[in-house]
Amino acid sequence: MMKQSVILNNGAKMPIVGLGTWRGGEGKVAEAVKQAISAGYRHIDGAYVYQNEEEVGAGIHAMIDQGVVKREELFVVSKLWSTFHIPSLVRKACEKTLSDLKLDYMDLYLMHLPMGMKPGEEIFPLDEDGQVYSDDSSFLDTWEAMEELVDAGLIKAIGVSNFNRDQIEAILNKPGLKHKPANNQIECHPYLTQEKLIPYCHSRGISVTAFSPLGSPDRPWATADEPSLLEDPKIKAIANKYKKTTAQVLIRFHMERNVVVIPKSSNPERIKQNFQVFDFELNEEEMKTLLSFNRNFRLFSFNWGTTHKDFPMHAEY
Ligand code: A2P
Repeated sequence: MMKQSVILNNGAKMPIVGLGTWRGGEGKVAEAVKQAISAGYRHIDGAYVYQNEEEVGAGIHAMIDQGVVKREELFVVSKLWSTFHIPSLVRKACEKTLSDLKLDYMDLYLMHLPMGMKPGEEIFPLDEDGQVYSDDSSFLDTWEAMEELVDAGLIKAIGVSNFNRDQIEAILNKPGLKHKPANNQIECHPYLTQEKLIPYCHSRGISVTAFSPLGSPDRPWATADEPSLLEDPKIKAIANKYKKTTAQVLIRFHMERNVVVIPKSSNPERIKQNFQVFDFELNEEEMKTLLSFNRNFRLFSFNWGTTHKDFPMHAEY
């Protein structure tokens, strides 16, 4: 039996393949969530900033109501947006997501970014240079407020996203730490293999989730000259050997490393296809080949945050 999940440091099982829900397309996300649960997915990855959590919730509840799945069989993830880092705002932000999802708890709640942003109506408060306004909060204080969500029973496990090594280390070394991060969700694929950050997280008992495993070809800022994972002939060649698609190899790549992976699709066939990844394995040689494609190419460079005190990407990893 192929590995279906990773065990978190709170003892919970996190299904190794989940559905990404960013840019699901207007009115498409609820349908995608339904299709995914029907196809066997038990892990749904969302975020406040995707601005579609009511739809995600509608999809989940449709499947629960039809008896396809029970709430406790699902692993639901969301993320605290950066304009809610001030500790007094954290609980309300979490409750808003829970009420949009119509759930009374989440399995995992991540701090979306280490960078706190000025609270207010604007999701991306930018100055005239296109740099984000900081809220001057400390992510350590935000973490403490997230720990309270666990103690209040709203969240089973808390984690981070887009954190570098030193930022994770700062949380782990925080005096009075109550709950360790259970997960760090980062961009990862054969062009950004994260060969230092992943072993570091694993060595600290922190699971890793890979976002943009297929290279997010629908990202709004894509340019024609950027390399395309899904069209890479060398990756396609590996896929052909197993009669699999390039997407399936790109997903399997993470599973071989014990990394959770959240491909996004709103197409029923591709949603199914992306879950047909438990019936083949990539061998060591193929993994080495895929890792050799690393070019530290980031689809998400967060260049609106380079002057923020907590910008995570100045560090090597
Ligand atoms: P669609 O939603 O139309 O299927 P990522 O998970 O890296 O962010 O990539 C998501 C993008 O990849 C979406 O544009 C999605 O389009 C596309 N996609 C998802 N699954 C597949 C697949 N199996 N083959 C090709 N493209 C895919």
